[in-house]
Amino acid sequence: MDELNDKRILITGSSRGIGAATAKLLAAEGAHLLINYRDKAKRADKVVADIEAAGGTASAVRADITDGDSVDAMLEGLDRLDVLVLNASGGLEKDADPEYALRLNRDAQVDLARKALALMPGRGRIVYVTSHQAHFADTVPGELDAYGPVAASKRAGETALREMIPVFTDHGVDFLTVSGDMIEGTITATLLERAQPGAISNRREAAGGLLTVDQFAEHVASAVTLDAQTGHIVFAGGTKGIA
Ligand SMILES: NC(=O)c1ccc[n+]([C@@H]2O[C@H](COP(=O)([O-])OP(=O)(O)OC[C@H]3O[C@@H](n4cnc5c(N)ncnc54)[C@H](OP(=O)(O)O)[C@@H]3O)[C@@H](O)[C@H]2O)c1
Repeated sequence: MDELNDKRILITGSSRGIGAATAKLLAAEGAHLLINYRDKAKRADKVVADIEAAGGTASAVRADITDGDSVDAMLEGLDRLDVLVLNASGGLEKDADPEYALRLNRDAQVDLARKALALMPGRGRIVYVTSHQAHFADTVPGELDAYGPVAASKRAGETALREMIPVFTDHGVDFLTVSGDMIEGTITATLLERAQPGAISNRREAAGGLLTVDQFAEHVASAVTLDAQTGHIVFAGGTKGIA
């Protein structure tokens, strides 16, 4: 995929954070962005308004991706999809039950990717967004205790999606992963710092600096058109201090 004019790109969890920043970058390149939100319609509408004010086009589409019916309803409203960016993530919420991280970070990702294929006839790309702490969870001991279950669930999600690569290929869809270290100024970084004071400054030192939301979003946006083979993994900002 070498240009984005008129391409339809759905980004899960794009009413805030990295998803919203990525959506704005891709809309500026001519794609039509589908801004998925869970329940904060006003926040998603604001991202759409920002994109339109900058000359782009976007629509807000509601779905709790852990709810199959909600995903079905969102997809029924779409006629075509060129790119799916699996960005939505979670599990650090204080009211989350112990199985929630796996339901969101593995099962919901697989469910949506499988269903989205029907809208991507013969071509397209799926981009999975993850963290280094999750990507390397099976091989590198995690230093952020509070993030452990989330990292394990996101690793399980990445593994399950990679196992689907032959199915994606059969549909003409390729699959790329973008992984990054902790990102400066995010809610996740704030929650981890609160649970483990010094956690983020330690990561910053070990990595030789952390990316900002906008810098990481540039890597995610670039992955949409990157000339790479299916299965390729982009290590945004490198892996210094972790692998
Ligand atoms: N933050 C970091 O330091 C960091 C580092 C490396 C990689 N990443 C990756 O980058 C991605 C985005 O991270 P972020 O920091 O921008 O996350 P975030 O601020 O926590 O935003 C997560 C997004 O996912 C949405 N979401 C959560 N559960 C959902 C559900 N059930 N259905 C639909 N949407 C749901 C949220 O919607 P609501 O607003 O409705 O809750 C929110 O828009 C994640 O995959 C993360 O692993 C983050």
